[in-house]
Amino acid sequence: MKKERILVTGGTGYIGSHTVVELQQAGYPVVIIDNLSNSDRAVLDGIEAITGIRPDFVEADCTDLEALKALFAKYPDIKGIINFAASKAVGESMQKPVLYYRNNLNTLMNLLDLMGPNGVKGIVFSSSCTVYGEPDVNPVTEQSPIKKATSPYGNTKQISEEIITDVINAGAPFKSVILRYFNPVGAHPSAMIGELPNGVPQNLVPYLTQAAMGIRAELSVFGNDYDTPDGSCIRDYIDVVDLAKAHVIAVERMLQDKSEEKIEIFNLGTGRGVSVLELIAAFERATGVKVPHKIVGRRAGDIEKVWANPARANQVLGWTANTPLDDTMRSAWAWQCKLREKGVM
Ligand code: UFG
Repeated sequence: MKKERILVTGGTGYIGSHTVVELQQAGYPVVIIDNLSNSDRAVLDGIEAITGIRPDFVEADCTDLEALKALFAKYPDIKGIINFAASKAVGESMQKPVLYYRNNLNTLMNLLDLMGPNGVKGIVFSSSCTVYGEPDVNPVTEQSPIKKATSPYGNTKQISEEIITDVINAGAPFKSVILRYFNPVGAHPSAMIGELPNGVPQNLVPYLTQAAMGIRAELSVFGNDYDTPDGSCIRDYIDVVDLAKAHVIAVERMLQDKSEEKIEIFNLGTGRGVSVLELIAAFERATGVKVPHKIVGRRAGDIEKVWANPARANQVLGWTANTPLDDTMRSAWAWQCKLREKGVM
């Protein structure tokens, strides 16, 4: 059966590009819209090298309603949307809150406005475990309490979830799946696509691979005095390809009307908490490459520990994050080596 076209906003970004690969490998025609503000057109070459298919691409900003209207006019066969287009740096959002609210919320509202008139059946939304803040109990389920956001970035995720819920409850003629990601890491095993560095990395794994490569003198481990077994913070690191695959299942679920509910929420994590020091050890074990690192003070605003209970996604979506952490560390390192080879870093 011919698959229906999917619009992937932010499709040249980190998670977006891996999802486009999985969509195309599952037979879905894709059109990407991206303003290339935090990605590169060459990502399209990587996607094509892996899948043999060059996705259609529109360079435009999703906050531009007219550009989106033109896109829907050009592609009247779009039946599903996966919305990755968003600004995502927590620290930057504290400095530029209006930019974050405008980008993340106007994008979503433009899409929601255009879905009904264009016959789109559903939207998958990229949310985050950031909505749980510092949880009282781990692992967190989808019913765990939502905590007050500590950054404009986090607030845009909470508000977006509320906007989608309100729009659907108001009788919108489409469905939504909200995916709360834990910490996506690693790269495609082909090393053809991965996370592109944008200045000094703020996230752990890109900084770690750059330190291992000698691009950074050493990785700072932010705190070893937390209430955790080794004193460093705990997260749920999920392989980006596992994460991408969940999107294909989610979009299929909406297009094929498999769910009773018009809106569904899923945690996407492994269910396993890993400390910063354990992650460094896993990288060194998997790659044989040492990571120069030192313990420094805590980073302001960090969550001590959070990991997922992914049972709902496991049972309802029939999806499990099953890539071993060591494989993920190897793919992250292979991608870092590819960036070096290409002279990017
Ligand atoms: N860390 C270090 N050194 C670094 C960078 C990070 O020790 O140089 C530690 C952090 O203290 C934290 C862990 O590594 O304990 C993970 O940090 P990241 O910045 O990679 O990820 P966060 O969990 O802090 O943040 C991520 C996303 C956010 C999202 C949040 C949701 O980057 O977008 O998860 O909880 F909001």
